[in-house]
Amino acid sequence: MKKLFSMVLCLAFVLCLFSAAGAGEKIGVSMPTQSLQRWNQDGANMKAQLEAAGYEVDLQFGGDNEVPVQVSQLENMISGGCKVLVISAIDGSSLTTVLNDAKAQGIKVIAYDRLIMNTDAVSYYATFDNFKVGTLQGEFIRDQLKLDATEGPYNVELFTGDPGDNNINFFFGGAMSILKPYIDSGKLVVKSGQVEQAQCATPSWSTERAQARMENLITSMGYGPSGVKLDAVYSSNDSVANGITNALVGAGYTKDNFPLLTGQDCDVTAMKNILAGTQSMSIFKDTRTLAERVVKMVDAIMKGTTPEINDTKTYDNGTGIIPSYLCDPVFCTKDNYKELLINSGYYTEEQLSQ
Ligand code: BGC
Repeated sequence: MKKLFSMVLCLAFVLCLFSAAGAGEKIGVSMPTQSLQRWNQDGANMKAQLEAAGYEVDLQFGGDNEVPVQVSQLENMISGGCKVLVISAIDGSSLTTVLNDAKAQGIKVIAYDRLIMNTDAVSYYATFDNFKVGTLQGEFIRDQLKLDATEGPYNVELFTGDPGDNNINFFFGGAMSILKPYIDSGKLVVKSGQVEQAQCATPSWSTERAQARMENLITSMGYGPSGVKLDAVYSSNDSVANGITNALVGAGYTKDNFPLLTGQDCDVTAMKNILAGTQSMSIFKDTRTLAERVVKMVDAIMKGTTPEINDTKTYDNGTGIIPSYLCDPVFCTKDNYKELLINSGYYTEEQLSQ
């Protein structure tokens, strides 16, 4: 009995030592901007969860999507002794040089939400299933317009995000995998003719730029509540959708005749628009889940074990496939937001009240 007791004690001691491995070490967390709600949430969640796991955290935001700021923050993290860097890149192709330095010093890099391209310094990638985000958005438009059961044609315009963000290939690509056959058959009509990803891009995912482009389309195509009918606008995310909503409201659209409009992130402005009838849906990506997953990855790396991944075929960053963990996105409308956002404690009702 005594022997068993001392063995258990011994095991507990070893486990204790094991879980303390890496404790107090510094982890760098680099987020793209503070100007968008989601990155503030991502940063705060990452910091809180890493600290709870015993790590010291250097959390930085890259100004307002400013690449040189992000690069110099990463340089400081490297020289400041960070052991792992968790990075959501502003421009996925601009970090090659700085990450060569990280690699040379044995610092591991996890790409957070957005893949970092053209560098073999990236060890892992954690994100949501970005192609699925796009297909959920495309299916929403298909189903709401009942494209398989009605004649049409329906007028639609297309918006995606920043051309330097690898995610848009998946968001736009996923949406087009659903919508393109209807565009090809003429049931969906893009009157502007702007159907290529590059033509539909919104630099910096900017609300103002999206608003300006939508205002141009309204003027040049004659869309309006008493003009040419606009049935739907595809938008890859909420910051872009917010600009589109501003332009459509400015043109006189109300909740009673508003075109279908997609989004992503369930940001507060977008949720208020959804509840007011001036946006149709968003995609909920629970940033708490992504942060939890990345903290597990960091912890595994620090303990010298292999992080859990669930995808080894989708994300090639130009140097090969990056082992990834894809979290599951879900669609959100006014019909299910309570269950998704309020009951799960993501928002309070007050935060979403007008
Ligand atoms: C993220 C989206 C976000 C967008 C703009 C994308 O990389 O996946 O959730 O809306 O960037 O910040």
